[in-house]
Amino acid sequence: RPVRLSEYRPSDFLIDEVHLDFRLDPNATQVTARLRMRPNPAGDAGAALKLDGDELKLVSVAIDGAKLDAEALDVSPESLVIANPPRGAFELEIVTEIDPEANTRLMGLYRSNRSYCTQCEAEGFRRITYFLDRPDVLAVYTTRIEGPADECPLLLSNGEMIENGPAGEGRHYAVWRDPWPKPSYLFALVAGDLGVVEDRFVTMSGRDVALKVFVEHGQEHRALHAMESIKASMKWDEEAFGREYDLGVFMVVAVSHFNMGAMENKGLNVFNDKYVLASPETATDGDYANIEAIIAHEYFHNWTGDRITCRDWFQLCLKEGLTVFRDQEFTSDRRSRPVKRIQDVRNLRALQFAEDAGPLAHPVRPQIYHEINNFYTPTVYEKGAEVIRMLKTWIGEDAFRAGMDLYFDRHDGQACTIEQFVACFAETSGRDLTQWMRWYDQAGTPEVTVRTAYDADAKTFAVETQQITRPTPGQPEKRPVVIPMTLGLVGPDGADMPLIVGGAPAEPVFTLAEETTRIVFENVAERPVPSLFRNFSAPVKLDSDVSDEDLLFLAGHDSDPFNRWQAVQTVALRHLVAAAAAVREGRETPVDPRLAEAVGRAFDPEERDCAFAAQVASLPSEGDIAREIAQDVDPDAIHRARDDLKRALRARLADALSAAYARLAYDGPYSPDAASAGHRSLRIAALDLLAAGGDAEGLALAMTLYKSAENMTDRVMSMQVLSLHAGAEREEALADFAGRYGHDPLLMDKWFLIQASAPLPDAVDRVEGLMASPAFDMRNPNRVRSLIGAFGSGNPTQFNRPDGRGYALVAGVAAELNSTNPQVAARLLGAFRTWRALEPNRRGRAETALRGLAGMPNLSPDVRDIVRRALSPD
Ligand code: ARG
Ligand code: ZN
Repeated sequence: RPVRLSEYRPSDFLIDEVHLDFRLDPNATQVTARLRMRPNPAGDAGAALKLDGDELKLVSVAIDGAKLDAEALDVSPESLVIANPPRGAFELEIVTEIDPEANTRLMGLYRSNRSYCTQCEAEGFRRITYFLDRPDVLAVYTTRIEGPADECPLLLSNGEMIENGPAGEGRHYAVWRDPWPKPSYLFALVAGDLGVVEDRFVTMSGRDVALKVFVEHGQEHRALHAMESIKASMKWDEEAFGREYDLGVFMVVAVSHFNMGAMENKGLNVFNDKYVLASPETATDGDYANIEAIIAHEYFHNWTGDRITCRDWFQLCLKEGLTVFRDQEFTSDRRSRPVKRIQDVRNLRALQFAEDAGPLAHPVRPQIYHEINNFYTPTVYEKGAEVIRMLKTWIGEDAFRAGMDLYFDRHDGQACTIEQFVACFAETSGRDLTQWMRWYDQAGTPEVTVRTAYDADAKTFAVETQQITRPTPGQPEKRPVVIPMTLGLVGPDGADMPLIVGGAPAEPVFTLAEETTRIVFENVAERPVPSLFRNFSAPVKLDSDVSDEDLLFLAGHDSDPFNRWQAVQTVALRHLVAAAAAVREGRETPVDPRLAEAVGRAFDPEERDCAFAAQVASLPSEGDIAREIAQDVDPDAIHRARDDLKRALRARLADALSAAYARLAYDGPYSPDAASAGHRSLRIAALDLLAAGGDAEGLALAMTLYKSAENMTDRVMSMQVLSLHAGAEREEALADFAGRYGHDPLLMDKWFLIQASAPLPDAVDRVEGLMASPAFDMRNPNRVRSLIGAFGSGNPTQFNRPDGRGYALVAGVAAELNSTNPQVAARLLGAFRTWRALEPNRRGRAETALRGLAGMPNLSPDVRDIVRRALSPD
């Protein structure tokens, strides 16, 4: 029963208006839905009316006021079929009863800390009432909520409140109306007793918008940063995209039980509290940055998602890729553009490239799915955003902006496809984007090989490229994609040389649309160093013949900051791959002093941009090295090689590191701004190298920082450095942290995560022990992700233990969550996405764990889908 894009059909019925009436009760909430319906002219005229449900209990059904008998219906918890509905407009009234308290799956209406809240994307609305629960059915919603006034003083839904008052017996009600047609996945309801932070925003056309952030009582001071982020997002979307907010109120609610990051419900965004709550005493620089980015992401969905939504779930990247692109741009404008680019590319490679190289690979727009919840992936989100960024690079800024304007103008109020989106840019750029569509339909990371040759006599520089995309599940054959390669030729003086091709000046963006391409630059007076894929102009894996020496020249001279960073990473990665192979053969690999020097430059007193320098100083991750090795991967050898390099860097750079650590000390009040955060991150990078190999002096510095920390970044980061090295310091810091912050679940999550990801042989035992600790709670997804998720995805040596205990641990937790929260269970199994690349022993043990799960009775569709795909032959 998979769903296929090729089988899309319009709905046979439409719903124009929805009236919902909720009688809240923890175990028996009554939902009355009155739906104004009519046959869809684009549908099948004689069709039965089939509504979606999920674990629903039907109370009654009526059409135009007349109750339907059981014979007229075919009803189950999963569907409601009316064989012969009216063939003109009619009103359908459905009464269902649901149990929010028992809803551990956190989809539909559920309770979290005594509050009611909803999560409907993708298919959660059908857990509230029977409905045409598909994104191309758009209706105007009016929602009446009735509940106990004492327990639920707050009754919220989408749109604006139009009425409220007492409802007798200590109960009260509120009626909300959302004038903007929307699909059911954007519906939201929140009821409870929460504190609020309020502010206002006046839009560019003068609309006065009330802003409200709801959090648990006593947490209001931790909602101020979220509020500032809302205002900044609203302003930015007006300036950057001409998009204005369209209701009189915009609300954000923080809840502590949430399967994902946040949700863009119209006018009423519901957030994981982790992405709302921040105060200088409790949040790290990273928390502040995440909150700002996720608030922006959800707010930007108001146009890219809510006003223009997706026709079907295959088009998910239409809203997600685009909205990630928009939030990346927002952050780039507010903080450092190059640093944001580097962070995004690190993240893309770590998550999306890994996904694309393994059994879970799928196109940005999948063509088939068994469980849509498993497609909220790095490929749909992050690669989806890259494809849009690349389109902008390829057609140019002006055609891109015009295309966005056209898209908003033409498709406002519609449920759209990727074709409709891309057509806007074909129109404004005048380019043929037919081949471009392969980026959406073809999975896998293209690999581009570049070979260069300088001809000193002819004064030409030739760049030859070749692209291949390896087979992925279901796609054995791949065709070339359109790859924009932004390039510069850097002369011996470090300046860019003019680009002359075919006798004329050329733009720096070159198109690689065929399997091979040859570009010959003319009038090249001296041998240049090519700077390839500047600013990471395409999401590809690059293999070039540019030497380490030339790369290190770029590291010091390239006008493109991304490639200055990339150059050092590439040289380090080449070393680490060789070193990991050497470790397995019992050899050593000397570190090129020039690499050490390049890393050392990050700590130069002259270095102005600390955040950028910190990126230069952080080596490729163990995952980066594993991906580069690609097969027969030995995580222990990789860890050892990376550790050896850190130690060698420490030995060579000790004085510079100590000096930088001392010089970068600071005092004064905490501010999470990008410059201050960058300063702290560079200091921590120095500390991390100083403590390499468990160096006693380095650990002593880390301990001093831990104890004297005046902000949460220093405290958490110093604890993290300490926790990498077994010993008394580590235990002292961890115990101290638990003593100080044991009452704060979000801080305990950091404590869980740091222990779960420490590459020490006791990790499995420790995680098992922590699962029994009072601060842990298997029903809270944040706890599960911080402990089990971090272990599976952030601890390569211990998850991949040769004895298989790491796999068994994660698979065991997934099995446990399979029935209570299948979505979270399936997510945890993402840890297995690269299992096929492992050396034979580990591969065998990973497979055993997956086969064990596959054989379990009552597997949820979510877990079954991941296990089945993970095990599918490659
Ligand atoms: N649309 C939400 C966002 O802003 C995420 C929803 C995730 N839903 C899911 N079923 N996993 O990205
Ligand atoms: Zn989103």
